[in-house]
Amino acid sequence: MNILVTGGAGYIGSHTVLSLLNNDFDVIVFDNLSNSSIESIRRVEKLTDKKVTFVKGDIQDKAALAELFCAHNIDAVIHFAALKAVGESSTMPLAYYQNNVNGSLCLLEVMATFKVKHFIFSSSATVYGGDNNVPYIETMPLGEASSPYGASKVMVERMLNDVAKADSDFRAISLRYFNPIGAHESGQIGEAPQGVPNNLLPYIAQVAVGKRKSLQVFGDDYQTLDGTCERDYLHVMDLAEGHVAALKWLNKQRGFTGVEAFNLGTGKALSVLSIIRAFEQVSQQNIRYEIGARRSGDLAAFWANADKANRLLGWQATRSLEQMIEDTWRWQVNNPEGYL
Ligand SMILES: NC(=O)c1ccc[n+]([C@@H]2O[C@H](COP(=O)([O-])OP(=O)(O)OC[C@H]3O[C@@H](n4cnc5c(N)ncnc54)[C@H](O)[C@@H]3O)[C@@H](O)[C@H]2O)c1
Repeated sequence: MNILVTGGAGYIGSHTVLSLLNNDFDVIVFDNLSNSSIESIRRVEKLTDKKVTFVKGDIQDKAALAELFCAHNIDAVIHFAALKAVGESSTMPLAYYQNNVNGSLCLLEVMATFKVKHFIFSSSATVYGGDNNVPYIETMPLGEASSPYGASKVMVERMLNDVAKADSDFRAISLRYFNPIGAHESGQIGEAPQGVPNNLLPYIAQVAVGKRKSLQVFGDDYQTLDGTCERDYLHVMDLAEGHVAALKWLNKQRGFTGVEAFNLGTGKALSVLSIIRAFEQVSQQNIRYEIGARRSGDLAAFWANADKANRLLGWQATRSLEQMIEDTWRWQVNNPEGYL
């Protein structure tokens, strides 16, 4: 089967491409490299000893997409391509709606033209908003997103539902990721943020190798065990394997049409301080940090109820926190400048 992976050169995309190749899918990556490097794909090819078809392009360029769909017989699309910095989305909301919402719209339009009916979408736990109780479960209503980034994910999920209502052959899965961290165990591919990292683990890793002085912890007065925010961290390879499980499930369903959402998380929440301590233990480095003010939009704690993915997809996160941190550390030490 030919799988089109948009944003496949990025962090989660590259790990998923590796899992797809290891499961004998053929992969075409379409990425504008705005937040990634072609080197990630080259390394995936080396790790798997398989070829990836790479096309540089933007999902808002419908002509380029049409050319791609014309040249390849695409069976399903996994759609990662998006801007993803929550904080930045509040300062440049239009860029997020443009790229994430309009980009998805362009992609779905071209898919409709070429009658490609299988779609897997990178959604996020942010779609639950702040008002639902934890743990989050897929039957909960979509919440009031706390950022334009979150709103863009809610909008695409709504769009998918409407497409599915209008086209009874259309089948989509929204995978709602919790907090992916870690890297492939080889230390060859991992998260390579450009500029200042937005996520906790790359930031800690850069402090550990001396690239940054200290980590700012956003608040220690939350109603949690140690006062810092708690999140459901899962290994990026578990997440990658979740996509393969979702794709196989989608291909097997005969009666199913519509959109199915799945949480991908471990079902456990860990605090920022506990991650710092665990990182210190694994890396044997001292992580300097300062407690700062709360960051607007941050929730105290959330984690997944991932029973549905386990029940229907046969998927479960299996890698430990120690493994997540060991793999992040290996990647960081081997690649202090990312893919440069
Ligand atoms: N990393 C997380 O914590 C997290 C959590 C929940 C959901 N997600 C979602 O998962 C997806 C992948 O995230 P990631 O962490 O791998 O991010 P990433 O930035 O590493 O990967 C995104 C990729 O998409 C590409 N891209 C962006 N806009 C594009 C466009 N218009 N056309 C073509 N390519 C484009 C980028 O160059 C990059 O390679 C995103 O949709 C993100 O919103 C990520």
